[in-house]
Amino acid sequence: MADLATSYMGLKLRNPIIVSSSDLTKTTEGIIRCYDAGAGAVVLKSLFEEQFLIRENIEGEDGIIYPEALDYLRRGGLLEYAPEKICQMIEEAKKEINIPIIASINCQSPRLWPSYARQFEEAGADGLELNIYFLPISLDSPGAEYEEYHLKILEEVKKAVSIPVAVKLMSQLTSIPYLGYKLARAGCDALVLFNWFVEPDIDVKNLKTRNIIGKGNFYQSLRWVALLAGRVDCDVASSGGVRKAEDVIKQILAGASAVQVCTILYEQKFEVIKNILSEVEAWMEKHKNATIDDFKGELSFKMQELTFKGVGEADAYFRAQYLKAYSRAK
Ligand SMILES: Cc1cc2nc3c(=O)[nH]c(=O)nc-3n(C[C@H](O)[C@H](O)[C@H](O)COP(=O)(O)O)c2cc1C
Repeated sequence: MADLATSYMGLKLRNPIIVSSSDLTKTTEGIIRCYDAGAGAVVLKSLFEEQFLIRENIEGEDGIIYPEALDYLRRGGLLEYAPEKICQMIEEAKKEINIPIIASINCQSPRLWPSYARQFEEAGADGLELNIYFLPISLDSPGAEYEEYHLKILEEVKKAVSIPVAVKLMSQLTSIPYLGYKLARAGCDALVLFNWFVEPDIDVKNLKTRNIIGKGNFYQSLRWVALLAGRVDCDVASSGGVRKAEDVIKQILAGASAVQVCTILYEQKFEVIKNILSEVEAWMEKHKNATIDDFKGELSFKMQELTFKGVGEADAYFRAQYLKAYSRAK
């Protein structure tokens, strides 16, 4: 029988499927449900910086507490999702389950987080995921400035805790490999590619703006997992668009140590995890892979380049224009 166990950010996982940070993981019952469904690990719903600012009644770096942030938190039932509640959840869940629990914090500034990171560690969290994103709205700030923030936040959190720390990135960064390389050198234990956003829309009838739910982009994640795996000195996990066993296999072939899933659990029953795992296992047996490590990264950019396994195939990951694809299709 194939062995699905894997190692991710220094943690031992019974299998590579992680339930990603979402409303599914914001209660003890939710976490236990993920465990019962067969998940290899869970990432808790993020504690958002806005929650912290509002709770402590302090201003953000720009001196503002945004009323819309308050509104968003109230509507999402997140005002009560406080650090103490998260610690309690971790403590309760640790008594019931034996898979890694990764706490998540949404950071936009380096100064606020180390003490919460420490509290989550003390409560028993096995790891931390830093959900970092900046929407570069300013006309004055170059891209490098935003990227530098990622490093500052990671460095502060790493100083505060000894559990492993992952960074979940947004895809709209100028140089993902460069930032990934720098983060790994600064002690990042894993990169999660990528975060997901609500998207803006316009209601033309009522002349109003509104938000719609965005979608994880499987192929975007696949490209960057493949381009980073084995080239940066930390693990890589995919997040975005995974719907079936074949998607999990593809991400591992591209180099992912773990595959995060979210939307699929909203769309289908939680049993989907067990079904996916048994299909992955059957595929491994058919392809004579006894362990996840036997095929992890086999089709990563680095492996294809080094082994010349598929001369010319590595370019699938970095070719972005249509020309060749069109001429092949004819
Ligand atoms: C309802 C909902 C809530 C989410 N909340 C968080 C969150 O608190 N922190 C975070 O890092 N990602 C959050 N996400 C993003 C997911 O973790 C995941 O990265 C994204 O949905 C893409 O994966 P998918 O295509 O498998 O859904 C949320 C997603 C959904 C659908």
